[in-house]
Amino acid sequence: MTKKLTTRRQFIERGAKLGIAIPLIGSGLLGCNFNEEKKEEATESSSKKLSILILGGTSFLGPHQIAYALGRGHSVSTFTRGKTLPTIHQELFKNVTQLVGDRNNDLSALEKGTWDVVIDNSGQNVEWTKNSAELLKDRTDLYLYTSSTGVYYPYLTEDIKEGTKLLLEEPQELEDEEMRIEYWYGVMKANSELAAKKAYGEDRTIIVRPTYMFGPADKTNRFIHWPLRLSEGGEVLVPGKPQDPVQYIDVRDVAEFMIRLIEEKHTDTFNAVGPKTAQNMYDFVEEVSKAFDVEHTFIKLDDYEFLKANKVPYLVPWIMPEGNNYGSARANIDKALAAGLTYRDLPTSIRETYNWWHSDGVTDEMRQKFEGNTGNVFNREKEIIAAWKKNNS
Ligand SMILES: NC(=O)c1ccc[n+]([C@@H]2O[C@H](COP(=O)([O-])OP(=O)(O)OC[C@H]3O[C@@H](n4cnc5c(N)ncnc54)[C@H](OP(=O)(O)O)[C@@H]3O)[C@@H](O)[C@H]2O)c1
Repeated sequence: MTKKLTTRRQFIERGAKLGIAIPLIGSGLLGCNFNEEKKEEATESSSKKLSILILGGTSFLGPHQIAYALGRGHSVSTFTRGKTLPTIHQELFKNVTQLVGDRNNDLSALEKGTWDVVIDNSGQNVEWTKNSAELLKDRTDLYLYTSSTGVYYPYLTEDIKEGTKLLLEEPQELEDEEMRIEYWYGVMKANSELAAKKAYGEDRTIIVRPTYMFGPADKTNRFIHWPLRLSEGGEVLVPGKPQDPVQYIDVRDVAEFMIRLIEEKHTDTFNAVGPKTAQNMYDFVEEVSKAFDVEHTFIKLDDYEFLKANKVPYLVPWIMPEGNNYGSARANIDKALAAGLTYRDLPTSIRETYNWWHSDGVTDEMRQKFEGNTGNVFNREKEIIAAWKKNNS
């Protein structure tokens, strides 16, 4: 059965019942300075003012980097096609120099000018990174490439450190389409990292490899299941065995870490992964549920065969830790911690993500795409739980 789309009015009424502060409704709200503690930190200015060029900058990670960087006194230019408009921090973009072009075929807007640092967020093609790094290397000091823990695919081991040897070529003739995409993405990111280092040298390159990012402005609809579902209470489907690990990170923690790395010129490669202390799926839902003052009964589905038969191979941040995905939530975070990666409080992040979902930053169409999708676990949950109970009665 499809769940009914939450209207803004229902959200306000429900929020009031749940005791959720809803200061986000209304346009200027999407400044995303939700966390008071972090707000103070964001306005703390850095001693050296940098001029930063972001390749990208207007979708998910970019606006959070911009908010933090401007708050610390840096100046920012973005380079995009002008197609993706920011849905958060819009008011800050009047203070950003917006260059227009296309990484596919038009870098002319980058042919002149100097900056201290390039942040390459939009790298989805090795040639793009190669061309921009070559073009900018003599007019900029540092290059930060936004990579991904996807470079470790297939995830066959645990405690995956940054020095792990990476796959640089995709295997031929893979039949599984999902696996083919995973290989393509990991190999593309790994070769893009090399292209950046080749142009700038190790001593002028920073590589950051985030795991699944969540938070305001996330358009993937991968993580929103949890804030929405746990806000409702009742019987909640929890996939996985007790020891299954999960990893994820608030996008703002990644954005802020990156800006601090460039301020310190901390050139190296880092896994940007949370939480700080290893967590399994059961601990994750317990922690997230603290965001909402409602009763939950967790129905723990610990049989992989049952989950596969019911089309639940993942429910991010949980990914069935088998085969090529064994280590997908087993990245090592020691280096990033030592370099100053910090983490927001999880229930607070979840509440802020929930509030953002119901704010002006998200269209009804986008909400409908997730909340009205009859195929997703959000809408199939009741029937899956009923089947589980029947099997186990
Ligand atoms: N989401 C996750 O969980 C996750 C996890 C690990 C790593 N990552 C990586 O994180 C990075 C950040 O992605 P984001 O979307 O959040 O970054 P973003 O910088 O906020 O937005 C992406 C930007 O790319 C621009 N763009 C797209 N195609 C372009 C083209 N052909 N030429 C010029 N600009 C182009 C878009 O603007 P226009 O459309 O206007 O051009 C947009 O500004 C990605 O590299 C992704 O692989 C993401």
